[in-house]
Amino acid sequence: MRKSIRKATSLFLLVMGAAGLLAQKTVLPVPGTEVYQFALDVNKVGAEISPDMYGVFFEDINFGADGGLYGELIKNRSFEFEHPFTGWTPYGNVTIQTKNPIFDRNPHYARLSYQKELTFTGLDNEGFRGIGVEEGEKYDLTFYARTVTNDPITLRFHLVNEANDLFEEKKVEVKGKNWTKYSVTLTPNRSALKATFRLVMETKGTVDLEHISLFPQKTYNNRKNGLRADLVQALKDLKPGVFRFPGGCIVEGNDLGTRYQWKHSIGAVENRPININRWNYTFHYKKFNDYYQSYGLGFYEYFLLCEDLDAEPLPVLSCGLACQYENHDPNENCPVDKLQPFIDDALDLIEFANGPATSKWGKIRAEMGHPEPFNMKYLAIGNEQWGELYIERLEPFVKQLREKHPEILIVGGSGPGSEGEAFDHLWPEMKRLEVDLVDEHFYRTPEWFLGSAARYDSYDRNGPKVFAGEYACHPNNRENSFLTALCEAAFMTGMERNADVVTLATYAPLFAHVDAWQWRPDLIWFDNHSVVRTPNYYVQQMYATNPGTHVLSLTMDNQPLTGQKDLYATAALDKKTNELIVKVANTGMAHRRVKMNINGLTGKHRGTLSLLHSTEMEAKNTIADPDQIVPVKSDVEIDAADWQLRLKPFSFSVYRIKL
Ligand code: AHR
Repeated sequence: MRKSIRKATSLFLLVMGAAGLLAQKTVLPVPGTEVYQFALDVNKVGAEISPDMYGVFFEDINFGADGGLYGELIKNRSFEFEHPFTGWTPYGNVTIQTKNPIFDRNPHYARLSYQKELTFTGLDNEGFRGIGVEEGEKYDLTFYARTVTNDPITLRFHLVNEANDLFEEKKVEVKGKNWTKYSVTLTPNRSALKATFRLVMETKGTVDLEHISLFPQKTYNNRKNGLRADLVQALKDLKPGVFRFPGGCIVEGNDLGTRYQWKHSIGAVENRPININRWNYTFHYKKFNDYYQSYGLGFYEYFLLCEDLDAEPLPVLSCGLACQYENHDPNENCPVDKLQPFIDDALDLIEFANGPATSKWGKIRAEMGHPEPFNMKYLAIGNEQWGELYIERLEPFVKQLREKHPEILIVGGSGPGSEGEAFDHLWPEMKRLEVDLVDEHFYRTPEWFLGSAARYDSYDRNGPKVFAGEYACHPNNRENSFLTALCEAAFMTGMERNADVVTLATYAPLFAHVDAWQWRPDLIWFDNHSVVRTPNYYVQQMYATNPGTHVLSLTMDNQPLTGQKDLYATAALDKKTNELIVKVANTGMAHRRVKMNINGLTGKHRGTLSLLHSTEMEAKNTIADPDQIVPVKSDVEIDAADWQLRLKPFSFSVYRIKL
């Protein structure tokens, strides 16, 4: 009988047989009568929880950078995509030229000739699945131009909506045969989610145009070349301790030529050479021929963002191997004896981030506007690499980094999977190489997450620390949902309980444009106007805003809570605020009553409860309904001698109690 109740009440078993009850989508709670006994010891202060522990991993996937976080509204602003008119619709006599360019690393520009009346010559830009503009806001249009014929040329700039109605217009006169930068402010008199940018020649003649750029003035912190304010705010609200960037697979490239090269991503934005984005062609069933990296959001901007977020930067660099999934050509792997330029990239990056403003790379940082160092302390070499190919390349990196920068914490990898041959080979090698952290990636099923809450309990306490650098619960339909969020919340209790082993954790991927995604689930969805925080986002936020400073002992029957009676739990002390933090996931359909037997605390104490809960397993937040699943906060008062927790079915609760 008890067995059958467990069967009926366990999410673990539900998801194992997902065709069964879970397919009903709504799971009706059942009453639970038994009172379970938890033992919490406030005097037994355990491992320190890294202040950097919960962070974010950013990659330009799903139009996360260009078309997303990066504020630029014009796609292919420099006409450098493989097909230079991608994103543009030319009208009349418009050609692409490369002679006497203004920017040597982005040499293509557009030449527009207007001779015949009754026609028009111009260009439309479609933006990134349209251009999102808000009524009354100001948008800075800048471009470089020169006349080819003698007389000045007047250009008109329009914003038009989906119905082709004009709703903003400005004119600029271009004079002279030398390249000159022009700017004008557009102030739309209505909002549009998918506007088109249009430029039209008003006077006859020939004109050259380059780097046509449109930015909202209201970027985060009103920065020029800035980031979309609402998306940065969503990151800020996560209070991330660490920020891993810029990938992911884009670090590797499908061949070495298309790997992410950080040196291409700094200096004047106009002259940062663009790169194809591998998510342009990775999935045969989801091609995005308009997906390139402008590098407008480059390493300097990433470091600035880390400062804004008060998060530790954690850049990932190529180890000299192209993506091992996609490229099996041995010639695409940089030979070990030719690896020095790759190692120099790592050493130079440390100087760019941390060196004095008088050093070669520190000077560039200072000239870009940041004389003070960024104080980078983490550096990852390689993303999802495996085998001897990786080890023999990582080794010389580690040697030189240790010699020249013993202060840098080196992150090595454990391959693309959470276990298996590559993983089992790499972990001992990481120990031998004495890297500081090992990056683990796990995109796994709900049952894996629920079954792995004890994963880190048995890890070697004396080896490198774990950085769970990419993880997300992937159900069959690969959608974000309350179910996946709850499974992640349950699993993460095991990370936090093992904070002496796991010191960093970042969900992946971070962003996805609703009209241009390649991969899901993702933490934050957006369109050109709005942001949607998923239930998974709220789980991350509940952890990151309530980390505590030290692990406390919390058990049931002398065992950590790793799924017994569908309960997963961890406790922490916040020495800074003198608070007790208890996180409990109930993944079963029964209400759970728990008596918290506390050693080391007496009397009544006030605090808060943040609760994420639903009986709709597939409930999700959408653009139309962004707040379907949000944590609800309430005040609580506990009596330490008699603290009874009433845990709702399918819930994640975070108690924060003032001591
Ligand atoms: O997060 C999406 C991709 O998953 C990353 O680019 C890669 O590291 C992993 O395979």
